[in-house]
Amino acid sequence: MDLILRPWRREDVEDVLRYANNDKIARNLRDIFPHPYILTDAEGFIESCIAADEEEQLFRAIEVDGRAVGSISLCLGSDVYRMTAELGYWLAEDYWGRGIMTRAVRRICWEGYDRWEDLVRIYAQPFAHNTASRRVLEKAGFQLEGVMRESVCKRGRVYDSCMYALLMEDMDWYERERDGGETH
Ligand SMILES: CC(C)(COP(=O)(O)OP(=O)(O)OC[C@H]1O[C@@H](n2cnc3c(N)ncnc32)[C@H](O)[C@@H]1OP(=O)(O)O)[C@@H](O)C(=O)NCCC(=O)NCCS
Repeated sequence: MDLILRPWRREDVEDVLRYANNDKIARNLRDIFPHPYILTDAEGFIESCIAADEEEQLFRAIEVDGRAVGSISLCLGSDVYRMTAELGYWLAEDYWGRGIMTRAVRRICWEGYDRWEDLVRIYAQPFAHNTASRRVLEKAGFQLEGVMRESVCKRGRVYDSCMYALLMEDMDWYERERDGGETH
């Protein structure tokens, strides 16, 4: 399987529309990710990714066998959080369970730490019941720092979320697997 992280292109719009229009994805993300997901959502998403300043945000398409099948991003914080970046991602349901996101997370963390020399911390905040996402983070070396009780309101219900982080100083074991190794 050929897995590439690359910048978004306008011609990815058909793939985004096909794969992002899935409530199993939307219900695990923030409300900014809509459902149903329509053409203008896909176009707006791709335009915002293309326009992003890579000094502050990395938006990457996850390309598998020539198709853009998912999205992964790092967004640098501001003010006192300027040395911290938030990780976000989703993958087309047809591709779940093959280790793709674990590899993608490892790669974008490397890219972030390479590109932003002041970066010391990458974090993600999955909903506590999002077992697959939590497992991805754990497999990619993130540590669970805590459960933020009743921190999320999604579709009228309140849920816990989890704080996971991967510090720059935790990256030494990554060296062995830098280009997407699959053994860890
Ligand atoms: C979460 C998501 C990115 C995972 O992508 P993926 O490529 O399938 O992930 P991987 O294959 O690398 O790893 C998934 C792991 O979760 C496990 N898993 C999946 N569903 C599970 C479940 N319901 N219960 C327990 N474990 C589960 C898999 O078995 C695998 O672990 P393993 O390798 O130890 O067996 C994908 O499901 C997705 O896009 N979900 C919707 C959007 C989302 O949740 N985004 C993250 C928001 S924080």
